[in-house]
Amino acid sequence: MRGTFYGIGVGPGDSELLTLKAVKILRNIDVVIAPKTEKNEGSIALDIVRPHLKEAVEICYQVFPMVKDFQKDFSLWEQNKIEIEAILDAGKNAAFLTLGDPMFYSTYIYIFKLLQKDGVKIETVPGIPAFVAIAAKYNQPIVEGNDILSIIPATANTSEIEAALTHSDAAVLMKVYKNLNDIKQTLETCGYGDTLTVSRLGFDDEEKIDLKTFDGTDLNYLSTILARRK
Ligand SMILES: C[S@@+](CC[C@H](N)C(=O)[O-])C[C@H]1O[C@@H](n2cnc3c(N)ncnc32)[C@H](O)[C@@H]1O
Repeated sequence: MRGTFYGIGVGPGDSELLTLKAVKILRNIDVVIAPKTEKNEGSIALDIVRPHLKEAVEICYQVFPMVKDFQKDFSLWEQNKIEIEAILDAGKNAAFLTLGDPMFYSTYIYIFKLLQKDGVKIETVPGIPAFVAIAAKYNQPIVEGNDILSIIPATANTSEIEAALTHSDAAVLMKVYKNLNDIKQTLETCGYGDTLTVSRLGFDDEEKIDLKTFDGTDLNYLSTILARRK
C-alpha cells in the first residue's frame, strides 16, 4: 500500500516546541525528508527533530531553490516530488519537515500542492510559528481586544508595507534580513514605536536586537519584528 506523506511543523528552533502529534509521527516514521536551501548546508529543521527520531530512520535530504524561482524553473521541485512519490510507492511513510508552521510562508506549500494534484494521501501537522514563540518568550502580547494585526513579509514593496501598517494596530514583519533601515523608517513613519526584534529564536545564538541602536547591517535570515503602535 502507498505510504502517507506527513507535513510536519517543527516550530521555531527548540526541540521541545513541537506538538505531541508531531513527535508521535516522527518517532515511528520510515523516512524523514529534510529540506535544505544550499547543497553544502545541513538542515536546521532536521537538527530540531533529531531527539525525536528512531535510530533506524532513513534521512532524505532535498535541495529546494528559493520560492521566488518556482515560477521560472520548477524542475527541481518536480524532481523532489518524484523522489517523494517513489518513497511512498515503496510502502513507506514520509515526514517532510518545515520550520514553524507548514502552511505559513513555507516551501512545504509548493511541494504539498504538487503531491495533492497527484492524489497522494497527505496529513499536515501544524507547528508553532516563530512570531508566536517570540511573543511568548519575551512576554510581549501580539494583539488585544479589537486590535488588527498585519503579517507582512519585509520583502514586499514599501508602499504595500505602509498601507498594511496604516490599517493595523500591530504588525509582524517576517524576512527582515536585508532592508532593515527602510523597514525601521517605515515603522517610525507609521507610528509603530514599540518593537521587538529577534533573530534565530530557539537556537544557541538567539539574539534580541534593539532596532533603535542597530547599525543597519544585514540580519540573519531567521529574524522577525513584532511591532505595535505606541
Ligand atoms: C519562509 S518564512 C518561514 C515561516 C515559518 N513557516 C513559520 O511558521 O514561522 C521565514 C521567516 O520566518 C521567520 N522565522 C522563522 N524562524 C525563525 C526564528 N527561529 N527566529 C526568528 N524568526 C524566524 C523569519 O522572519 C524568517 O525570515
